[in-house]
Amino acid sequence: MNSRLSLLALAALLSCSRASAPTTTASTTPAPQALGVTAAKAMVVSAHPAASRIGLEILQKGGNAYDAAVAVQFALAVALPVAGNIGGGGFLLYRGADGQEGALDFRETAPAAASRDMYLDKQGNVVPDLSTAGHLAVGVPGTVAGMVALHQKLGKLSWAEVVQPAVDLARKGVVLTPKEAAGLNGTQFITTPIVTSPAFQHLTREANGSISGEVLPQRNYPANPYKQPGRTWQPGDTIHYAELAQTLSRIRSKGRAGFYEGETAELLVAEMLRGRGIITKEDLKSYQPKWRTPLHGRYRGYDVLTFPPPSSGGVALLQMLQMLEPYNLKKAGWHSPQATHWMTEAQRRVYADRATYLGDPDFGRVPVARLLDKSYNTQRMASTLPHRATPSKALTAGPGLPAYESDQTTHYSIVDAQGNAVSCTTTLNGAYGSKVVVAGAGFLLNNEMDDFSSKAGVPNAYGLVGGTANAITPGKRMLSSMTPAILSRNGKLQLVVGTPGGSTIITSVLQAILHVIDYDMSMQQAVSVPRLHHQWLPDYIDVEQDALTPATTDSLQRRGYTLHPRGAWGRIDAIRILPNGHLEGGADPRGDDTALGY
Ligand code: GLY
Repeated sequence: MNSRLSLLALAALLSCSRASAPTTTASTTPAPQALGVTAAKAMVVSAHPAASRIGLEILQKGGNAYDAAVAVQFALAVALPVAGNIGGGGFLLYRGADGQEGALDFRETAPAAASRDMYLDKQGNVVPDLSTAGHLAVGVPGTVAGMVALHQKLGKLSWAEVVQPAVDLARKGVVLTPKEAAGLNGTQFITTPIVTSPAFQHLTREANGSISGEVLPQRNYPANPYKQPGRTWQPGDTIHYAELAQTLSRIRSKGRAGFYEGETAELLVAEMLRGRGIITKEDLKSYQPKWRTPLHGRYRGYDVLTFPPPSSGGVALLQMLQMLEPYNLKKAGWHSPQATHWMTEAQRRVYADRATYLGDPDFGRVPVARLLDKSYNTQRMASTLPHRATPSKALTAGPGLPAYESDQTTHYSIVDAQGNAVSCTTTLNGAYGSKVVVAGAGFLLNNEMDDFSSKAGVPNAYGLVGGTANAITPGKRMLSSMTPAILSRNGKLQLVVGTPGGSTIITSVLQAILHVIDYDMSMQQAVSVPRLHHQWLPDYIDVEQDALTPATTDSLQRRGYTLHPRGAWGRIDAIRILPNGHLEGGADPRGDDTALGY
């Protein structure tokens, strides 16, 4: 099985036990459901109960939403190895109770020794798996620097107070859920023997990026806490993370230097050298998170705050909302043929633009203003046929713009008692990232380099194609689909939302918003109901089990749509403000996601 297939298979396994071909029997108008978890003051919704509990405890002891975000991020790095991380990156969006807002980009970067064609063979073909598994797939991690930057700007409790719960969790151990046990058992982790010979000290990296010196296979160090010899994990087993606890202790005591310098950096770079990876001490030391200006859009009277490039998600979300606003989705009916037609045609057009125009804005011009111009998006939808699918091969990116050129991620949403809101999506990219465990430091590294376009027009693990805007360049951030979003109305916070899911992230966030605004669903119902997804290429609609009735399926097929049954994707974690000011959590039942509040 190639890595793309194994990634998708594993993602399906982890995110849902319903991976068999879906039937299409549900009603198009789901009956109203009871509210999800509600709370009077504050709430945390994350992908793991232990992380949500830690976030809640931070809020209850007087921490704000930003303190809770740091605590939840580090707790997920322990409790949710499939996606939670210190070896990855992410995007955090916030809206303060005072209306202040910000977008913190702690996305990974390409190492200095990276190059545009590093995943191509001599014939110019993409070498299978090189950008998805193993040491060469790893981007320079941004998570710890991001959390430090967040805490320095907005935190209230001390740094030690917000990191310590994750240290304790790693020491005490985490009880495996059935999903996490299955995920760990189904994963081939990559561990390299730690070399204790003095020869190891003599390894150096040459100016051309090659490594001189000899790697001696010495002994197998018990570097992988995620496997146990001769036994598979069972639900209810406890994993203890002794080395990760030490790494987190260094981060707690030294902040950024506890990861990017000293022992953790030494261990990470030693891991790279043993595995022929290219991240150096200099790459680590020079990594910087960035504060960016969030994007704003409007949809049916709501202000939609979301993330700018290098996420493609915010631009794409706002484009789709602009394209859909003129249509009466409510009257057409949820997942009716007509509403599905409009939604799919908007998605198709936006993903075509994404592939062509989106990339790291620090390395080229991304025409954000033009892509978010209402007349541009109206024009894009003008080519939609009333009752026919537009074949993707007949559609390219919108003309007239300056040319430039996962699914395991995780999201948490937090609102504190003052009304500060955090929407953060963080990722290793694929399930368990590159599968590389840093020996001696006990954490997993991302395989985010696959989010670059290894070769123009060749799909990545999510089937996404890209062009030169997203080509590999040293220091550049790879394009992302992560779409944290916060909605307000008349200056008042209304909705905090986001999800993992690789290329499906953008359409899942779109649907959660439509479900609440257009279809009057509760927050819990909005995240629970089955979803649809189209991404231009491949040219089909992914259909989750029970997403369409047989009659709608027939109608869409007659309109020229190809329907592609698919196991569940995404794990939306969201919070809605109820009319009485209380909070309702929407925790995705596809995972172990948990809403807790007080
Ligand atoms: N690695 C998934 C994303 O950033 O879109």
